[in-house]
Amino acid sequence: MNSESSERPTPVNHDAEIDSLFGPESLLGHAVGSFRPRLAQTEMAKAIARAIGSQETLIAEAGTGTGKTFAYLVPSLLWGGKVIISTGTKNLQDQLYLRDIPSVRKALSAPVSVALLKGRANYVCHFHLERTLQNGRLTSREDVGYLREISRFMKTTSSGDKAELSRVPETATVWSLVTSTRDTCMGAECPYYQDCFVMKARKEAQQADVVVVNHHLFFADLALKDTGIAELLPSANTVIFDEAHQLPETATLFFGDTVSTSQVMELCRDVLAEGLSHARDGADWPATVTTVEKAARDLRLAFPQDVVRLSVNQIAPSSAFFPALETLKDKLDDMIAVLERQAERADTIEQCRVRALELATRLDAWNKPVTEVMIGQESVLWVEAFSSSLQLHRTPLSIAPIFNKQREGSARSWIFTSATLAVKNDFNHYNAQMGLWDELSQSWPSPFDYEKQGILYVPDNLPQPNSLDYTDAVIDAALPVIQAAGGRTFFLCTTIRAVNRTAERLREEFERRNLPFPLMVQGEAGRTELLDRFRAAGNAVLIGSQSFWEGVDVRGDALSLVIIDKLPFSPPDDPVLAARIEALEKKGLNGFMHHQLPAAIINLKQGAGRLIRDEKDKGVLMICDPRLISKPYGRRVWQSLPPFRRTRELAVVCDFFADIAREKVRTLDT
Ligand SMILES: Nc1ncnc2c1ncn2[C@@H]1O[C@H](COP(=O)(O)OP(=O)(O)OP(=O)(O)O)[C@@H](O)[C@H]1O
Ligand code: SF4
Ligand SMILES: [Mg+2]
Repeated sequence: MNSESSERPTPVNHDAEIDSLFGPESLLGHAVGSFRPRLAQTEMAKAIARAIGSQETLIAEAGTGTGKTFAYLVPSLLWGGKVIISTGTKNLQDQLYLRDIPSVRKALSAPVSVALLKGRANYVCHFHLERTLQNGRLTSREDVGYLREISRFMKTTSSGDKAELSRVPETATVWSLVTSTRDTCMGAECPYYQDCFVMKARKEAQQADVVVVNHHLFFADLALKDTGIAELLPSANTVIFDEAHQLPETATLFFGDTVSTSQVMELCRDVLAEGLSHARDGADWPATVTTVEKAARDLRLAFPQDVVRLSVNQIAPSSAFFPALETLKDKLDDMIAVLERQAERADTIEQCRVRALELATRLDAWNKPVTEVMIGQESVLWVEAFSSSLQLHRTPLSIAPIFNKQREGSARSWIFTSATLAVKNDFNHYNAQMGLWDELSQSWPSPFDYEKQGILYVPDNLPQPNSLDYTDAVIDAALPVIQAAGGRTFFLCTTIRAVNRTAERLREEFERRNLPFPLMVQGEAGRTELLDRFRAAGNAVLIGSQSFWEGVDVRGDALSLVIIDKLPFSPPDDPVLAARIEALEKKGLNGFMHHQLPAAIINLKQGAGRLIRDEKDKGVLMICDPRLISKPYGRRVWQSLPPFRRTRELAVVCDFFADIAREKVRTLDT
């Protein structure tokens, strides 16, 4: 694929410029305090500049905290042309857009324009806001208050991004009534099209030199063509994926197909409203809608459990699910017939007809034999029940062929970077998943001296992780360490339940022991805000689950202890995981050793990587899971971590923190 070098430009060599930009007198010193040359960072920046110049693909791995952000920002702002940067989460998008890009741009005086593009659900929609204000079906007083806040916000905002309105929580139900979906957007027919924030954000992204997106948005667009990326991609010269280890998982979500009963319910809601306002005499709208709603509810009720995930093979052939699915399709067809007769009366009714037809087609396709797009591809059919809805998924087992097709023949550079792509310098597992055959892959060693800078502490005498009192035992073991560290702790849990239990216990214990450490819990406030508070406090303890494991950067003293409660294995009841393992086992491979264990190791390395972010950082990584020692695979786990000094003695850990404290006093004295 990379052989048509005749068509590629002759790359200019930027090595000397990079040596000076990342050297001792670096301009970047203005962007970050106590900047010092890091060989891995400099070399990675050179490799990226080369890949950009020759429009090639590069898979670049360098340890956590190395400074990969600058390593790709510098060459892309200077020589990347039109650049799309995609990262793991909306929070990391904000971190890049608000913090890293402005400081690098300023330090380099690079004349580039930058735009932030999120999914459409992040922008208030004039049309739906207006509709909700007029015929609002708000049920709670709280929502009425929020709605007032939102209309006030609309008078002052220039982006319409809901992240700017922190007074209305991100999880408030009212958001779904004042934002659009692909299904409900009126597009060019919309009376508010000229002022639309979604369209504005896309237009800005079109015009900007650098656009910051996230992986969900990127892949949702490749699959659905609805987020503005499809229009951006053709003009992009450089595409950078940070946190690229997440791509196989995210892409899998989107290259599959999902249809849910809540989409049917939303459609019914709109059909009723539009039917009554534009064609009241045309049909018995309430009756038409009610039968479909009942069929959708019955489909959900085929599963008595609150929350369940089952692959289609796990559903008994005698289950009420199969007939209920047929009934829903029939009733939906009846509604489509009604909509067809009334479609001429209003655009909004015609739009409902198109939505209904599409839902019907997708429901139909769900349990039909493999469709054309899926030919040659194994996929797994599964259902996921939530308290009041049911989702039907079709997920491909491998995204390699689909993703590879996206990259084919494009004259642009693709950069994939992360701290965790290779296993012992071997990129095969990752590259095979992504379909990145024969592309240049490189790994650079960490600039940190882990042996001196940190300790891996695995406490003794903890019960098995599946025992009932496990979380409490972890907290008991953690308390003296938190105390020795003087707070300054990330407490990373594998489940939300453990987050809540830990928060409750630590709050009690801190009070009882008179410990002054501010306690911060994921969910109490936005993630960016929690991190700002954590950095400012200097002695805080932050309890978080998965979303704090990756990309988060707290350099310096504010973070000196990372506690991990359990090895982060994926839940074994995940039908997609089960299908992948089955596929491996058919090939004679061990599913645990080839899939679950490597995935857990990547996760663990990411979590552990929050600790050391600078040559001067020191700290303790405490992993509580006894399987690290007792299981045969435990050795493989700790051998994949950075080469910390290891101990099982609390006293060694306390001495280490005491040494750090003495050192600090000494530097303050001098
Ligand atoms: N050469 C440098 N000297 C000193 N500090 C630096 C240097 N380069 C980057 N930094 C700082 O080091 C910290 C880590 O950088 P960054 O977040 O880019 O790491 P990363 O490689 O992306 O790690 P992760 O894989 O965990 O995301 C940041 O606070 C950054 O500002
Ligand atoms: S174009 Fe779509 S998103 Fe924009 S205001 Fe109209 S309905 Fe809302
Ligand atoms: Mg990073």
